[in-house]
Amino acid sequence: MNTLNIALLAGDGIGPEIMNQAVKVVDAIANKHKLSIQYSTALVGATAIDKTGQPYPEETHQTCMKADAVLFGAIGHPKFDNDPNAKVRPEQGLLAMRKKLGLFANVRPVSVYASLLDRSPLKRERIEGADFVVVRELTGGIYFGQPRGRSEDGTKAFDTCVYEVYEIERIVKYAFETAMQRDKKLCMVDKANVLATSRLWRSVTDRIAEEYPEVVYSKMFVDNAAMQLIVNPTQFDVIVTGNMFGDILTDEASVLGGSLGLLPSSSVGKHTAIFEPIHGSYPQATGKNIANPMGMILSAAMLFDHLQMTAIGTEIRNAVEHCINKGVVTEDLAKPNEKTYTTTEIGDAVTQVINSSILI
Ligand code: IPM
Ligand code: MG
Repeated sequence: MNTLNIALLAGDGIGPEIMNQAVKVVDAIANKHKLSIQYSTALVGATAIDKTGQPYPEETHQTCMKADAVLFGAIGHPKFDNDPNAKVRPEQGLLAMRKKLGLFANVRPVSVYASLLDRSPLKRERIEGADFVVVRELTGGIYFGQPRGRSEDGTKAFDTCVYEVYEIERIVKYAFETAMQRDKKLCMVDKANVLATSRLWRSVTDRIAEEYPEVVYSKMFVDNAAMQLIVNPTQFDVIVTGNMFGDILTDEASVLGGSLGLLPSSSVGKHTAIFEPIHGSYPQATGKNIANPMGMILSAAMLFDHLQMTAIGTEIRNAVEHCINKGVVTEDLAKPNEKTYTTTEIGDAVTQVINSSILI
């Protein structure tokens, strides 16, 4: 088999710590299955700004373009969050990367592990069995629309939400295809009672839905969806939505599983796909060896799925679940007065499960 070239973009905050754990796990898998993997590393985010002045330097882009897949840690630093006048921001790096690689579809699976049902702030009977995927549009909408900025006198600021038909078509088709592989239910979330872009989403999605008669298709306003995710999350199978709504709803959805630190994602489209946890750089935990690396490790599992190695993806997911069932979790998921494990201990534990083939 050919060598697999994986680009590692650890980024900021807890990014490098969790990335190390994912690499440990990928190395163990590679060893076990005799896969040849070559890593290339590149700068992104605040770290890249400090070293090169750019949050997504051209060199990093070239590294991504040449790779078979990218593992991405996190981006963001408080020194930029607290400075509204900063000209260059780390998040611009992530947005530029998604745009330049043409990664229009962000896939965020949400499910609830049986042994963590009591870790969620929500009642067990509401969340038990919840298992859905949010397909978030990733390269359009209000995060990219022009014009944007501040008036010269500083009394006004503006962002623009723009969607073109082709952008809606490709993400909606992707979501229907995803639904066809799952329970054949799709809910499109928008704000069509107020926004023109949402009304365009509705007409395009209605049209595409006709090509998928087997899929039960529904529409929901985003404010209602925010509530439904909490009161009745098991009603969802695939949710398709725009960039900002998807960003917000997936942080909300992570509450079902007990921790934001558990959720992985893949971003796919034109060029090299990226696999990243949804949580962000968690500056308060940086360097403390307490961050949950499972979202990052599960993102590596999605990477193998994407490269048509689903058995390996499943093996990684099973190893993570085994650790969760045994109570080998970081402090965000531990029960009161129970032992908690460090970031590195979780990486070691998942690796050990893989090496010892406990589940195979
Ligand atoms: C995410 C993050 C990013 C986003 C930020 C860091 C730019 O919140 O991936 O969900 O808004 O897309
Ligand atoms: Mg987000």
